[in-house]
Amino acid sequence: MTNTKAQMSNAITYKVLSFEFCHLNFLIMLIDTHAHLTDKKFGPDLEEVIARAAEQGVGAIIDVGDSLVSSMQCIEHATRNAMLFASVGIHPNNAEQASADDLRRITDLADAPRVVAIGETGLDFYRHHARHDVQEELFKNLLRVAARKRLPVIMHCRDAYKGLLPLLGEMRGDCPNGVLHCFSGEISDAEAIIGMGFSISLGGPLTYPGNVGLREIARRVPIERILLETDCPYLPPQGKRGKRNEPANVALVAEALAGLRGMTVAEIAEVTSGNAKRLFGKMCD
Ligand code: NI
Repeated sequence: MTNTKAQMSNAITYKVLSFEFCHLNFLIMLIDTHAHLTDKKFGPDLEEVIARAAEQGVGAIIDVGDSLVSSMQCIEHATRNAMLFASVGIHPNNAEQASADDLRRITDLADAPRVVAIGETGLDFYRHHARHDVQEELFKNLLRVAARKRLPVIMHCRDAYKGLLPLLGEMRGDCPNGVLHCFSGEISDAEAIIGMGFSISLGGPLTYPGNVGLREIARRVPIERILLETDCPYLPPQGKRGKRNEPANVALVAEALAGLRGMTVAEIAEVTSGNAKRLFGKMCD
């Protein structure tokens, strides 16, 4: 397809989907609630990546920032492209590089019309990129920003549930709503998170043969607390491993969840996209 043709077909798709997006539900419409389209693995072919997602029934993608610079790029993407929304935040692995000024600027960026969430934020005790106390301080600050701006928070937690759960409990009065993305904990962690009012989101790891426990969790937690994501370019679903992940593959996650829940892909799409639209209410403004 030539560039012009690709752009034309994109324009048509966006028009149909944006009309359908918040009003009608008769088509399959998936939402990839966590993508990193500012990653350097995406670039010149971003329009094609988005067109492929639309072909798979993806109607919206949340492009998630992990630093001040990438957060600004996410807003730029979302301003140019009707299918994209932005989340602004600083990943726990970047906590030591983040200055007080970065935090102030993230706070200001939260007011941009296409920004639907604060994140990525949270705790990562698996990698050793930042001291735990520095991560915790930044996480609390970003939770406060989300609460003040009345935006949901997109949380990352890797090998850190023992730190994250008490911190959220401690912040409760001052805590926004949100989602724990790419959930990877135990059933007790999922129950605790959901008990606090948060949702969990599931991506490619749901399809990995070894992840028996995660599939059991996906079967058991209330369906109205599940969102879908890719976390692309990371974590491609089984069958695509070793390749760059992209938002189109959220359809494979939906298929896996449909099998686990005894539902059709259309039902999974309707329920999980409804969950996402409720949580990220600014998408429908
Ligand atoms: Ni992420």
